[in-house]
Amino acid sequence: MLIAISTLAVLLILVGWKFKKQRAVHIPLMSLAFLIDFGLLLYIELSRQAIATLQKNISTGADEGLLYFHVMVSAFMLVLYFVQIGTGIRLAKGREVSRVFHKNAGLLFLACRLLNYVTSFFVVSKL
Ligand code: HEM
Repeated sequence: MLIAISTLAVLLILVGWKFKKQRAVHIPLMSLAFLIDFGLLLYIELSRQAIATLQKNISTGADEGLLYFHVMVSAFMLVLYFVQIGTGIRLAKGREVSRVFHKNAGLLFLACRLLNYVTSFFVVSKL
């Protein structure tokens, strides 16, 4: 179920990316993806004390490395969501200087979100 919700958020982001020049589509899709991802992160941490549980269930060094990688990429993704919202609002208000930053941070965000998605399949099996 959690993977299905996460997949939905990724799909919204990909469609929102495709419509990056159409504000009326781009902004609602990216905002909805943020709300879903933020809710998901809160739910996973609050309901399962995810990080503590994972630390208990991790046995090998390789597993531990992947777990920390997943946590780091997820934290970075969350920060970049706020960066995108901030620069996106400025861009929507006509501050064209924010465009290059929004675009480049957007690429970094996309990389983090996809890495989060791929590594989550491994992490979920340990929760
Ligand atoms: C993580 C979420 C987001 C990503 C990855 C993202 C990514 C992008 C990208 C790649 C562009 C195209 C820039 C260009 O080539 O010129 C763009 C445009 C834009 N984004 Fe976002 N964005 C996100 C969220 C948001 C949000 C939340 C807002 C508004 C609050 C927003 C507002 C805009 C606006 C106004 C444009 C310019 C559209 C135009 O060309 O008229 N974005 N975004």
